[in-house]
Amino acid sequence: MKKVILVALALTLLASSAFAVVSGGKHDLSTQLWNNAGAGEICIVCHTPHNSLTDVPLWNRAAGATASFNLYSSTTLDNAPVQPSGYSLMCLSCHDGVTGLDSFAGTTGVTANVIGAGTPGNFGTNLGNDHPISIAYSGLAVDELQLTSNAISGSATLTVADVLVGGNVECSSCHDVHATPQYMLVGTNAGSALCMSCHIK
Ligand code: HEC
Ligand code: HEC
Ligand code: HEC
Ligand code: HEC
Repeated sequence: MKKVILVALALTLLASSAFAVVSGGKHDLSTQLWNNAGAGEICIVCHTPHNSLTDVPLWNRAAGATASFNLYSSTTLDNAPVQPSGYSLMCLSCHDGVTGLDSFAGTTGVTANVIGAGTPGNFGTNLGNDHPISIAYSGLAVDELQLTSNAISGSATLTVADVLVGGNVECSSCHDVHATPQYMLVGTNAGSALCMSCHIK
């Protein structure tokens, strides 16, 4: 009995450690019926060791929706976001509400396996009501943004520079795709600390 509790505790600690763990989280789709009848692999839905569709990061999915997205815009933005690309488009290859989760390894999935309409993870093609992505992180004076050497809230190692992709804010600037905690954030957002890792507010 004691052993079971200790193992459970060890697993809990492991899951909450600084190392990202996919297993058991919302991105662990290994038990979905469309994934080898519920006995599938975890990584394969997103990565493959060989013959990947996109070189980095050995991406095993079609890049994302072909639809064009409605982008966030405002008069106070210093930089305009562009059509989502790279890592953000990879997220949207499931979160666009159009592409089946089972669209990987060169097969086109079925509508039944799209993240359900009305589910928070279904963004659709309207990104106008979402934090801008595929947008440059630049100049602290005008944007009132922190220096890129600023630490990410609650992280011992990450700085703003580490979470940017080619100098841009993408989905992965705020989320760790390989994590299990709710919202999979790269830093703690208690008291909006994550927001203030970038914004001087
Ligand atoms: C839901 C999709 C998804 C799953 C499942 C997934 N990954 Fe990833 N992975 C990504 C994305 C997107 C990136 C690039 C963005 C990033 O690094 O945040 C990435 C990047 C990586 C990288 C390079 C950057 C880094 O974080 O080290 C490695 C290595 C990696 N994944 C390994 C794995 C392994 C091993 C598994 C299975 C245990 C796995 N991934 C499961 C989506 C996924
Ligand atoms: C292989 C498909 C797939 C890919 C690729 C993918 N996701 Fe997800 N994601 C899901 C599914 C399925 C869920 C669960 C949806 C639900 O709870 O309704 C989810 C849930 C989430 C959640 C919510 C977690 C919570 O606790 O509620 C976040 C945040 C998230 N994903 C971010 C990302 C980001 C960022 C990327 C890209 C770096 C990404 N996802 C790529 C399939 C994917
Ligand atoms: C600037 C930071 C930031 C960026 C960029 C960002 N997110 Fe999030 N996201 C958050 C935070 C913070 C939450 C937690 C929910 C909240 O606080 O309202 C969240 C929540 C989510 C959820 C769960 C929704 C819910 O209401 O349960 C999903 C899914 C998600 N994000 C996916 C994405 C995807 C996909 C992208 C890129 C298209 C993205 N996020 C870009 C900060 C961000
Ligand atoms: C990784 C850095 C980063 C994080 C974390 C971040 N932001 Fe941002 N945010 C930006 C950048 C860059 C812009 C675009 C600034 C510009 O071009 O004027 C932006 C734009 C915005 C805007 C639009 C400003 C306008 O002028 O219309 C709002 C509002 C905003 N962020 C709120 C938040 C909130 C709330 C959070 C926390 C949930 C957050 N941000 C987290 C980098 C970040």
